[in-house]
Amino acid sequence: MSVSEQVCDACAARFSAIDAKVECARCGGLLHIEHPEPPVCSTALQALFDARLVPSRGPHGVSPHDSGVWRFRELVMPGVGDAEIVSQGEGITPLLSRPRVAQWAGAEDLLLKHEGHNPTGSFKDRGMTVALTQAKRIGATAVACASTGNTSSALASYAALAGLRGLVLVPQGKVALGKLSQTIAYGAQTLLVRGDFDDCLRLARESSEHLGVYLANSINPWRLEGQKTIIFDLLQQLRWHSPDWLVLPAGNLGNTSAFGAALREALRLGLIDTVPRLACVQAEGSAPFAASFREGFATRHTVRAETIATAIRIGDPASYDRAVRAIQETNGVVLSVTDDEILEAKAVIDASGVGCEPASAASVAGTRALVRDGTIARGARVVALLTGHMLKDPEVMLHYHRELFPAPTHANRSIEIDATLADMERVLRTAPATA
Ligand code: F0G
Repeated sequence: MSVSEQVCDACAARFSAIDAKVECARCGGLLHIEHPEPPVCSTALQALFDARLVPSRGPHGVSPHDSGVWRFRELVMPGVGDAEIVSQGEGITPLLSRPRVAQWAGAEDLLLKHEGHNPTGSFKDRGMTVALTQAKRIGATAVACASTGNTSSALASYAALAGLRGLVLVPQGKVALGKLSQTIAYGAQTLLVRGDFDDCLRLARESSEHLGVYLANSINPWRLEGQKTIIFDLLQQLRWHSPDWLVLPAGNLGNTSAFGAALREALRLGLIDTVPRLACVQAEGSAPFAASFREGFATRHTVRAETIATAIRIGDPASYDRAVRAIQETNGVVLSVTDDEILEAKAVIDASGVGCEPASAASVAGTRALVRDGTIARGARVVALLTGHMLKDPEVMLHYHRELFPAPTHANRSIEIDATLADMERVLRTAPATA
């Protein structure tokens, strides 16, 4: 046999690998697949598989070399020993090209850097692996954070890995279901604060100062050291050539600050020759940074934040000053998009098979707005950051697709049927609604 075949378990009838039937055409038995013998011996086969696993993963958990954070350890926490590192293989995230998303955004050369592929489903793992490694180094016994949900999921997971007590403060009723469930299940003590994120952060800072818990919010410098690796990882994927634009959703401005620092460092070290322009995208109801940008950063604004993208529902961003520097140094821009624009962008990203949480889609909605107003040239190389996984917020997603008045442009309705062939036939006769 020189090609793969489908073979019946019951009567051993053989069918071509591209035969469409999934059961035996002769006797109705179940099929299995038989492959030709590999053309090389077992040692050569092992060598082939091993070569593809670079660097190699040991049998005793994840080696720090398998992490897209600790791969850059000289720029993150030089001198740290392998045994000190609290890691679970974070930071191995894809850079994706999705023509339908690019077409919708009007940016011909759009790539999506998907940080939702991290172990807990958001970019926060990159900062948290470093913060918890540091917490252990300094002998902390408890770590705490305020969060709109993703930081709390990451803290809960990494605290469990490190064997430390984790405490999270989240705004009651304003955390997406996926994030809240993760945080509770990973075992962190979850405090539902009667207030918003800005109240949570104030309380977390006070508790850290007066009660001695180690604060793992993005004001913690080690968190940002980890988040810098989004940039290093991305630049490495682009063979150390900066894109023209890097578009990211912005809330507390930790990422914006980390990106500014990473680009500054990469340029200084000669890893790249030019830096991309940063474009920070906020949700319209939570856009104090965009308001400051419009005034040339003359005033620092705060707002009472509201948006469907709960991850970025932040009215008083903590890393404001560092983020201003990042925008100024990269000749960047800050803008806001509406919740409807975010939801439409999300539906397009989701339907491309990639998927992301609402806040993440702000980057693609922002890209579209910037192409439309001529800030971003159509042919420019743009990387939009997707910060979180689509399962983080199932409620918003289902609501969008079920909404009737008005029906959203890209809604994909589920169809209830009886378990009959007639109903199936009826469904197949109608073309699916296309976005
Ligand atoms: N996207 C997602 C999915 C987020 O969870 C966050 C922040 C951001 C974007 C904005 O990043 O704050 O660095 O400007 N989430 C924080 C949290 C606040 O608590 O999970 P930022």
